[in-house]
Amino acid sequence: MKRIGVLTSGGDAPGMNAAIRAVVRKSIYNGLEAYGIYQGYSGLINGNIKQLELGSVGDIIHRGGTMLRSARCDEFKTKEGQQKGIEQLKKFGIDALVVIGGDGSFMGAKALTEQGFPCIGVPATIDNDISGTQFTIGFDTALNTVLDSIDRIRDTATSHERTFIIEVMGRDAGDIALWAGLAGGAETILVPEEKYDMDNIVERLQSGQKRGKKHSIIIVAEGVMSATDFAKELKNSIDIETRVSVLGHIQRGGTPTGFDRVLASRLGARAVELLMDGKGGRTVGIEKDKIIDNDIISVIGQPRTFSADMYDLSQILSI
Ligand code: F6P
Repeated sequence: MKRIGVLTSGGDAPGMNAAIRAVVRKSIYNGLEAYGIYQGYSGLINGNIKQLELGSVGDIIHRGGTMLRSARCDEFKTKEGQQKGIEQLKKFGIDALVVIGGDGSFMGAKALTEQGFPCIGVPATIDNDISGTQFTIGFDTALNTVLDSIDRIRDTATSHERTFIIEVMGRDAGDIALWAGLAGGAETILVPEEKYDMDNIVERLQSGQKRGKKHSIIIVAEGVMSATDFAKELKNSIDIETRVSVLGHIQRGGTPTGFDRVLASRLGARAVELLMDGKGGRTVGIEKDKIIDNDIISVIGQPRTFSADMYDLSQILSI
């Protein structure tokens, strides 16, 4: 093997740049050439590919977003699109590929591996919704961004004695909501993995009111419903003043935390090692601080185990 390609795909996540840097530098350290594929799979189809040197990935470890850009590409879901991608890889003499992204991006990596082109998936998404790893790159940064917003909202919620409903990202997974809610002292956390009980939520608000508490923070993962819809539902059950705050894409930006930079560096480097060992069709991950790898087939589409213990604890601590 002589040349390794690297691309980022799907929703971007802070720490993707640190992962790209690790792939490029680990490859060059081992005498390989590294090629960057720009704009995800759509750039692969169009041959938007350039060689990356050590200096190409300098000064990016601390930057959010991805220097390779990202895209969601429907064409690559087709056999024809995948064939076009393989032709481009052959044209550039690239022997193996590292795909940095989420579940959807891993589908492309799996398809390429099945067609004889070895790929390794590096999990990067703020949602922390990929199995085969305890943490995905970007989750820790997003968590801290959300937490900063909750703390700020709490200030004004206290001053005005209001209940705030804060909507956070997480289409299918409630990790951002759960971790940020627990760390931010939210009274109620709504996640896609657990059914909510409106009577219980109202009871909690009322018992808080009885002991003189006049403000509350409710965190809603977008996968449950919008914060606006929840505010309407709540209004039907209890007459309190509420405000809605949708955090949106601020959760995806910003300088990656130390944790995400270290995780990205370790996972990116491990992906190169696997390819050097002649392995493809695998994903890398972290479990109890050990870098592990799994068959990509056992990871794709598998829901991560939701931390029911943490959810229960959040309920206990917010009485
Ligand atoms: O994939 C992560 C994610 O941030 C989800 O939490 C969110 O639902 C989605 O991406 C938003 O995607 P887009 O930026 O394409 O609207």
